[in-house]
Parts: sequence; C-alpha cells; structure tokens
Amino acid sequence: MFKPISWGIASAALAVILAVHAQAASPKKPPERGYFDVSRMAPLTDQPGDPVNGRVIAAGKGLCLSCHVMPIPEQADHGDVGPELAGVGSRLQPPELRLRIADPKVLNPDTPMPSFYKKDLNRVAKKWQGQSILTAQEVEDVVAYLGTLK
Ligand code: HEC
Repeated sequence: MFKPISWGIASAALAVILAVHAQAASPKKPPERGYFDVSRMAPLTDQPGDPVNGRVIAAGKGLCLSCHVMPIPEQADHGDVGPELAGVGSRLQPPELRLRIADPKVLNPDTPMPSFYKKDLNRVAKKWQGQSILTAQEVEDVVAYLGTLK
C-alpha cells in the first residue's frame, strides 16, 4: 500500500541527491596555469637545446644575471635575489630546470622570478601580450646550458 513519506524526509533526500549530482557535474579542472602545462615537462621542441646559445640568452635577453650569480665572468654585475646557479645542473634534472624556467610560479606563486614561457603574462604592454618572454627553443637552449653547470 502507498505510504506518503514526510516532506521533511523527501526534501532532505532531494537535497542529498542534488548535492551529489552537483559534485559529480562540477568539472575537475586543474588550476589554470596558462600556456605551460605542468603535467608535461618534456622538451618543448624536437630540436635539442644548444648550450652555447643558452649561455648567450642567460647573459642577455633572459636577464638571469640580474637575479642570479652565474659562472659568466665576463659580465660584472650579478644579482643575488635568487640562488647561485653554479652547479645547478647537478642539483636539478632537465625537466626540473625546464619547469623552473618556463613557469616557476607553479612551484612558488610568490616567486619574483618571471615565467619565461607563459603567454598570458599580466600587466605587459600591448605589444607583448600573447607572447612569452623566451621562445620554446630559447627555453630549451637555456635548459641545455644550465645542464652543463655541474
Ligand atoms: C627577478 C629575479 C629573477 C630572474 C630575472 C631570474 N630568476 Fe631564477 N630564481 C629567482 C629566485 C628568487 C629563485 C628562487 C626560487 C623561488 O623564488 O621560489 C630562482 C630560482 C631559479 C632556479 C632554481 C634554482 C635552484 O637551485 O633551485 C633556476 C634554475 C633559475 N632560477 C634559473 C633562472 C634563469 C635561467 C633565468 C634567466 C632565464 C632566471 N632564473 C631569471 C629569481 C630570478
């Protein structure tokens, strides 16, 4: 025989069903990390990095010396905002180096180090919007260079 259930129980049950449903329906998107996908620290290009050009970039447009002491004696002023990079190739493997150059904010959101391979940089002039600071090949070159610092 049909027994009417109380509205209280019915609405509680409905609330549970809706809550479970809402949870299942909410897409589990990873946090937005911009252009660089952390799950992939594999090389960004097919062409292996060129350590000689990587050194040129580190001393030049990468501005790495403004924050890091590096074994680049021909340049006088090295900053000390970040750790010294001599020997970094022994401490970190290429995928770890790549992540730290491409998007160090993944590891430390408060780091002053720029994300060199993100295309959604904030607060940049219009001219630079949609561009990363370094190209994929330049990142690979810098990774190759740092790998030689043993
Ligand atoms: C504005 C300052 C700044 C600039 C420019 C900068 N870095 Fe950094 N870097 C840091 C700081 C600070 C850290 C320490 C990590 C942190 O902040 O979480 C760091 C960490 C690193 C690390 C990890 C070192 C370790 O021993 O764990 C590497 C590798 C690195 N930087 C490479 C570079 C390279 C290569 C460039 C240039 C392409 C560069 N950085 C430019 C500030 C900077």
